[in-house]
Amino acid sequence: MRIPPIIRTKADLRAVVKSWKQEGETVGVVPTMGALHQGHLSLARAAEQACDRVIVTIFVNPKQFNNPEDLENYPRTEEDDARKLAHHRVDAIYCPNPEEIYPDGFCTNVSLSGLTEVLCGAHRPGHFDGVATVVTKLFTQTLADQAFFGEKDFQQLQVVKRLVQDLDLPIEVVGCPTIREEDGLAMSSRNLLLSDRARIKAPALIQALEDMAEGLRNGGTAQELGAEAEKKILTAGFTEVEYLELRACDDLSLQDTPVRESRLLVAAWLAGVRLIDNISV
Ligand code: PAF
Repeated sequence: MRIPPIIRTKADLRAVVKSWKQEGETVGVVPTMGALHQGHLSLARAAEQACDRVIVTIFVNPKQFNNPEDLENYPRTEEDDARKLAHHRVDAIYCPNPEEIYPDGFCTNVSLSGLTEVLCGAHRPGHFDGVATVVTKLFTQTLADQAFFGEKDFQQLQVVKRLVQDLDLPIEVVGCPTIREEDGLAMSSRNLLLSDRARIKAPALIQALEDMAEGLRNGGTAQELGAEAEKKILTAGFTEVEYLELRACDDLSLQDTPVRESRLLVAAWLAGVRLIDNISV
């Protein structure tokens, strides 16, 4: 077991990546905000299988939090994270000092329209600008060939794919399946914020999605089934359903029936914690 080296500056990172590239090695990056769980570790495994070298980045990106309290409460567990990565073939952990990402005078914003205006984007103003800006920097700093993202953040995955396409960034974005707890709850760093009582109620979210997906496959519409599913989520103890929508996978346009390849996506609040999930239909 060996804790991978932690790199904090882009100059040090570039030097290491340059030496790998000189040997003709490919580089995979797994961008994270830390508080690593099995979902992140599955992305590291996918990167290990596809690439010669793997970098996991850990940076709690202030620009993607629209709520200061949410940023403050976000779990920060760097030492633990490094220990977890020791069980993997990870070559470097990039934990950039904040000024490596946002130096004094930083005034660039990477912003996408359309895809970012719905779902989480409609409820978290500026969130996807923050994600797109930091991801662009992580891609250009790591010079990775492939980047691995979880389908749990399905909208984020589509946004990053579009960003790479639009800006001709020389990197391939790979989407990996959501990893779930035994009771179905999608793994998320935010699950750590749930009290024991709230944790017991949390799987109601995926159960409602699965029931609704079955109804859609049997010919129901999102409008009818959505109202029923929302009621189930609230009855289970959630305080608010922000959205529960059927969307086309590629452009995230709203659908009432899954005639195109579609995804059912939800965001809901449980005991002060915002949970998101999605499944394909
Ligand atoms: O999914 C996340 O953890 C973050 O949004 C990401 C992609 C690391 C950017 O900060």
